[in-house]
Amino acid sequence: MEIGVCVGELSSNYVTFISTKMPKIGEYVILEYENQKVLGIIENLIRFNPFINEDLLNEEAIEKIIELGEETYIRGKIKILGNVENLEIPKIPPPPGTKVKIANKEILDKIFGKSEKSIKIGKLLTNENVEVYLDVNKLVSRHLAILSITGAGKSNTVAILSSRINELGGTILIFDMHSEYVKSDLPNKNIIPTKLNPLYLDALEVAKLIKVSEEAYVQERYLRRAWNKAIKEIKELKIKVEIEEFFDRVIEILEKEARSKEIDSSTRNSIYKVIAKLEDFLARYKEILDFEISKITERIKEKRINIIDLGDLDEDFADIIVSHTLRNILYEWKSMKIKEKTLKPIFIVLEEAHILVPKERETLSCYYVSRIAREGRKFGIGLCLVSQRPKALNSDALSQCNNMIILKIVEPNDQKYIQACSELLTDDLIRHLPSLNVGEAIIIGPAIRLPALVKIDKFEGNLGGADIDIVSEWKKETKNYELELI
Ligand SMILES: Nc1ncnc2c1ncn2[C@@H]1O[C@H](COP(=O)(O)OP(=O)(O)O)[C@@H](O)[C@H]1O
Ligand SMILES: [Mg+2]
Repeated sequence: MEIGVCVGELSSNYVTFISTKMPKIGEYVILEYENQKVLGIIENLIRFNPFINEDLLNEEAIEKIIELGEETYIRGKIKILGNVENLEIPKIPPPPGTKVKIANKEILDKIFGKSEKSIKIGKLLTNENVEVYLDVNKLVSRHLAILSITGAGKSNTVAILSSRINELGGTILIFDMHSEYVKSDLPNKNIIPTKLNPLYLDALEVAKLIKVSEEAYVQERYLRRAWNKAIKEIKELKIKVEIEEFFDRVIEILEKEARSKEIDSSTRNSIYKVIAKLEDFLARYKEILDFEISKITERIKEKRINIIDLGDLDEDFADIIVSHTLRNILYEWKSMKIKEKTLKPIFIVLEEAHILVPKERETLSCYYVSRIAREGRKFGIGLCLVSQRPKALNSDALSQCNNMIILKIVEPNDQKYIQACSELLTDDLIRHLPSLNVGEAIIIGPAIRLPALVKIDKFEGNLGGADIDIVSEWKKETKNYELELI
């Protein structure tokens, strides 16, 4: 369908057109000239009537002009996206008078449609007949960030992506901060108990776990020796031990060291600090340790949606689980690639990423998230960071996420922060962010051929995170109360 003609001075990047029909902002158009078809997107529209200009001060005169049936015109700006065949920017600009046509479904399907290794994510916002697919190889290997205010559709997007990647045989691991995916109707779930086996913790990890700071070399040295000795005893004895017994043994070894006459009082002090930290840890977190449980990487099943439920845990605890899991995945996947020359690609989703990968604090997870963000693609580890507070997210990690699905974002500082982390997010795209509705997103990155405004599909089935119905809950309360009165 023809909607107008190009006018004025035209370049290869932007052209102006006039029209009497009303197209939509964000609509894709085709310009045909000199044996080529060029795709563009309408970025701006101005509506005017040449007879009603700003100098006209008389209201009656305006009414008369309108009665005469004078038409209003549209002047619009088109951003040229590229030649339909290869999406390269044309070498010559279109000549004035070139007709502007709405791009048909066939052309758009070629760009956004299905390919062999893709999954459907939704439909074009400006053309509901066109389905949008994402290239899974590029999505996983080049990482992804899903960003928006609360309630705009991030979890729904995670559910759509996980279930569809899984349909292709993909392995997913979700760190579920609010127990929403564990309770959901996601297919092929494998729920992993949030426990760790001390046998697989290394001494540095134990030091961090019990909060021995990195600078406290003496504390760390004595802890490492005592811990390793106690672990060695268990392995040699091959007997079942309870966590308390094990800690008692570590403390016993440390106390013996502290009684030694060969150490000075400051060293003795350090050893007692370690003992206090071990006791404190045991009192708070005893239940996360279990000698019976297998290695965390052995609990991740291939071709399943693996979920680690972090819902009931505080931040420190969640940090320990996430960092331990990521560390083991990174090392095992790396050695698998190097020694066995095999890959077991996995897509790791971290919800509430700003908590465990923050900008201003160091967490245990920060280090491993950054390493996976930088090196993961070589070993088949993909990362998906999900956050409703983009500007609180670590910028190193965010800028490694080459793909972004950005739903509604109102705060200008959030927008600027994301823009600083992605060169694909232009000002024209940013302008759409505040006005997006639930489930509507801008998708940019290597997984999609062109940046696009997309209506994300709704996940069929329950997701745990839906808003609670406060009024119904209150109504229930009242009923109970009345019953009691009777
Ligand atoms: N693409 C979509 N289409 C229709 N409804 C959606 C879509 N995405 C989200 N919703 C609805 O909006 C609400 C919030 O979505 P959710 O994914 O939990 O948001 P977030 O994780 O960003 O807080 C849910 O009730 C969900 O069903
Ligand atoms: Mg959510």
